[in-house]
Amino acid sequence: MTITDISHRRKFLAQGNVYLPHIVIIEKIIDETPGVRTFHFNFKDEKLREEFSFESGQFGEYSVLGIGEAPFCISSSPTRRDHLEFALQRVGKVTNALHRLGVGAEIGFRGPYGNGVPLDLLQGKNLVFVGGGIGLAPLRSLIWNVIDNRDKYENIDIIYGARSPSDLCFKYDLDAWNKDKAVNMVTTVDKGDENWTGKVGFVPQVLEQAAPSAQNAVAIVCGPPIMIRFTFPVLEKLGFTPEQMITTLEKRMKCGIGKCGRCNIGNLYVCRDGPVFSYAQIKGFISKEY
Ligand code: FES
Repeated sequence: MTITDISHRRKFLAQGNVYLPHIVIIEKIIDETPGVRTFHFNFKDEKLREEFSFESGQFGEYSVLGIGEAPFCISSSPTRRDHLEFALQRVGKVTNALHRLGVGAEIGFRGPYGNGVPLDLLQGKNLVFVGGGIGLAPLRSLIWNVIDNRDKYENIDIIYGARSPSDLCFKYDLDAWNKDKAVNMVTTVDKGDENWTGKVGFVPQVLEQAAPSAQNAVAIVCGPPIMIRFTFPVLEKLGFTPEQMITTLEKRMKCGIGKCGRCNIGNLYVCRDGPVFSYAQIKGFISKEY
């Protein structure tokens, strides 16, 4: 199997009524940026708490009673099982309702959905993570997963950026990866402030300057659509082939299970065939449709 086609690797949680959510409890809330929060949560049902499993890159549907539901990736790593996490930006009705919740609140969760990152195909490779803004949420699940299985992978490069220092998400992770000698970490912002001492520049430019080798490497990219579009040509310039590039997309998903037809891109449904795709799969239509 190659990284060219990874759509069929999706794994659904077996359940009767696919729209019926499980109740989960919010255990902790972290303010990441002025508009982004991370929620730690756990299943109310003890058995489900023990049995639930997922893969990095998969997502769930989160619902607030009487308001609606929305899909977000599971941003914690399957290697750290005492709780689950998701992060979201306040942009609409459901995300505003989720932002109003406090610790102890109960919400609905269904999932995991989607295909997840093909970790077995990444083993023995140099890994280059390229992230922007809240796009670090799915990447951090994978990054911690890789760090927790360090002996299975070669070099780890992380290039992460945001518009400004206050827009950098998961600063506690950035600090931890900066201190990790096994990780080569570059953080950048589009525009610094008087206290910023790191790099200034857009993620694709900084990636080009960092110039990680394409030799035996796979790049995993996640961020705003414009960043993704400009990052792939840079990776190609650095020698990465479309089969050596992976991304995870979020596009107008609603039902999460291939029923509503809202998330199509080209001939693919993001929820059913992704959200993790190789660039080889989406190269033909990503610039027009994403
Ligand atoms: S979200 Fe409904 S088909 Fe993909």
